[in-house]
Formats: sequence, C-alpha cells, structure tokens
Amino acid sequence: MAVSLDVPEADIARVRQASPLRPRVAVVLGSGLSGLAESAEDGVAIPYAGLDGFPRVGSVVGHAGRLVVGALGAVPVLLFQGRAHQYQGVSAHDAAYPARLAAGLGCEVLVVTNAAGAVVPGLSVGDLVLISDHMNLMGTNPLTGWPGPEGGFPFIPMRDAYDPALRATMLDVAKGQGVKLAEGVYAALLGPSYETPAEVAMLARLGADVVGMSTVPEVIAARALGLRVVGMSLVTNAAAGVGLSHTEVLEAGDRAAAQLQRLVSEFISRL
Ligand code: HPA
Repeated sequence: MAVSLDVPEADIARVRQASPLRPRVAVVLGSGLSGLAESAEDGVAIPYAGLDGFPRVGSVVGHAGRLVVGALGAVPVLLFQGRAHQYQGVSAHDAAYPARLAAGLGCEVLVVTNAAGAVVPGLSVGDLVLISDHMNLMGTNPLTGWPGPEGGFPFIPMRDAYDPALRATMLDVAKGQGVKLAEGVYAALLGPSYETPAEVAMLARLGADVVGMSTVPEVIAARALGLRVVGMSLVTNAAAGVGLSHTEVLEAGDRAAAQLQRLVSEFISRL
C-alpha cells in the first residue's frame, strides 16, 4: 500500500459489527443516485454521523448521508449514499474518506457516480457518461501532506486511473442492456457556484466533456491505495444552462437513475 489509510479503527469495527458481509466492491452514489442502496439485499445502514472519520458537514438536499452494507446480485458491497464535498468546506483528504474506508475494509474496486453538467453539445440531460479520465481543476489534492512510502511523497501515477478493463466491462453491460453509454473526460471544479459561460468554453477547449464538483478526491485516494476504479456521470444539465437549480439537477437524476442502477448492478455481478 503506497500511503497510510488514516481510518479510525472504530469505523472499521462499526461496519464489521453491523454486517457479517465482507464487501470487495464499494460504490459512491452521487446527487439523486442513492436509490441503488434500496435494492441491496440484507442491507444494513450506518448513518455517516456514526462514523468518526466521516467529515461533519451540514446536510445538502439529495445527499442521504449513510453507508449501506448489503449485497447486489449476491456480491457484498459498500454503498455510500451521498458524499462530503469540498464546497461544503471539507478538505480533499476528508472528501476522499469513502475511498479510504473502502480500502480499510478490504475493497478492491471503487465505483464512483455523480451528477454532472454537459460541456460538449453532443450530450443531453439524462445521458450517462463512462468517465475515461479526469482533470483535477479543484486546486487541491487529497494526497497533499499524506506520508508516502519510505517517508516520501505519494507521487502516484494517474495513467489509466479509470481502469480500462472495468470500463470495457461497463460498456459491454450497457450494450447488453441497450443503454447508450458515452465515454468522456470529467473536469472537477471546486464549486459551489456553477460555471460561467466563459468557464464552460474554457473547459470545452481543454478537452472536458462533463463538469462536476466531486469524485476526483475519492479517485486519487483510491488509486493511491491500490483500488481499481470505474466512474459514471449522469448528465443533469447543460453546464451554464439557463436557470439551473439544484432541484432540477435532482429531478434529472431521478429519471435516469434507474438506468444507471441497472448498469451498476449487473456490472458488479460480473466482477
Ligand atoms: N456544473 C458543476 N457541477 C454540476 C453541474 C454543473 O453544471 N451539474 C451537476 N453538477
């Protein structure tokens, strides 16, 4: 393991006590996508407030704020319903807590999902995007200050951070289900303000396809800890769209969430 986990023993014990399942896969469910946890068998919920290492943040509508341990298609999973965002004032290290806890509990695969704005004209509301790569434009990194191997810094490679083999599996699942799944680059900004039109134009020129305010801290930490990662964005709006409200973002999530849930469920059953 390249870097230290910084996960309280009490949190590991709390999850172990809650369920006899030993998850190998963790899923982070973003805005409006937490419904997948309802379909988990033998699901046991632990509110984030019951986990010492989880950052304390005020609740944002659409973020349920609990960890469900259960099974999807007979595969034991950790389902994080909602996440802590840096725009809520937490550090990148803290925002990455789901990845660190998943690693501490022995997970080998992290599935990240989020709501995102479309940067390129080819994407519409309700489209699903398989993340092929990301741009960390948050100005922070969850590994700053983390001890690396032999006292050095964790200069971890980020090539193929989004695992090519897992992406191929996800594309195959989508094909089988008749779901259109584009591949694209996710740009992460700090938020919480949405992007200006000038910023959206900048992101398009940089090569981003979708934009959001999450995911990147978890993915960097997961890679540092040796987890394989696959990520999906649900397009909830055109970035810099007119009159965008958080409610509209959540409504778009509801409509396409079922599709995303079916994809993730079958993907997990194939691992
Ligand atoms: N920008 C940033 N984050 C988002 C957006 C957006 O347009 N939509 C959902 N999350």
